[in-house]
Amino acid sequence: MKKKLKLRKQVYYVVIIIILLIIAGCWGVKKYNQYIYEQSYEYKLQQVGYTLDDTKTLISKLNDETLEYILTIRLDERLVSLVQEVYFIPSKFQEYYDYIKNNKKVQIHDVVAIINSKVNNDYYSLDLKTDMSKEEAIIVNKYYQMDSNYEPDDLVNVSLDYSWGDYGSIRVRQVVMDAFLNMWQKANAEGIYLMISSAYRSYAEQEIVYNNYKENYGEDYADSIAARPGFSEHQTGLAIDIFSKTNSNRNTFKDSDAAHWLVANAYKYGFILRYPEDKVSLTGYNYESWHFRYVGAEIASYIQEHDITFEEYYAYFLDK
Ligand code: DAL
Ligand code: ZN
Repeated sequence: MKKKLKLRKQVYYVVIIIILLIIAGCWGVKKYNQYIYEQSYEYKLQQVGYTLDDTKTLISKLNDETLEYILTIRLDERLVSLVQEVYFIPSKFQEYYDYIKNNKKVQIHDVVAIINSKVNNDYYSLDLKTDMSKEEAIIVNKYYQMDSNYEPDDLVNVSLDYSWGDYGSIRVRQVVMDAFLNMWQKANAEGIYLMISSAYRSYAEQEIVYNNYKENYGEDYADSIAARPGFSEHQTGLAIDIFSKTNSNRNTFKDSDAAHWLVANAYKYGFILRYPEDKVSLTGYNYESWHFRYVGAEIASYIQEHDITFEEYYAYFLDK
């Protein structure tokens, strides 16, 4: 009887110990999970003041290095808007943030466009070489420069039916010629007679064009309307200045039927209006209603549909 009682007591103790161990185990697991959670960015960002939703957004868009950086700066809800911008590029985070800090009134959407287009840098201040492997999608602007010796190897003469000047003086790359002819025919069928006034220009020819403006109107005006040699799309053989048989006036062409037709239709043939009126601050050039650049129909359609510049397109889709 006594033995039985003793055994019961022992079982009782064992049960108590097991219960205590379970409680201690649960407590330990809870503490451990809490410790792990406190190491997470979800926890740390909330400690800085971000909401859970914002925290999740930041984590989904940024790498660990950038998240660590965000933890070192004060709560800034504009960063959440920034990472949700369509053309946000994670590797440019620091540049966006520096710009946001110094330009508090600029909309976040515009900050992304500015940084992606590189116009936060002085013109001609970056020593970037045009990546020729991009073929029809090569970029040439006030930051990306072509080799002074570059000349396309498939230039063809434009017929005097579609261009002014002496035969042989207006040349474009074959792919541009084919696309232009398709476009010309469609426009012609709709009563618009397109004419090319300038196309491929060698480095030396561009130097003459630029220096001419500079000597006559000064450097600032020259830079707003003409590219410095090496920085002109005309050297690619992919850019053409298009007017119409009835209007070749730079001041009034923009209001002509031909200009309206081109704005509405050129993308179907792979051409973009390269320097639009509302994008001067991103392209670095005054509005040129006549300057069209061949980029291929796919890229041109995207740019047309999303109303962005080639600079923005290139930064987001091609500058890898
Ligand atoms: N007019 C354009 C910008 C050029 O000179 O290339
Ligand atoms: Zn041009």
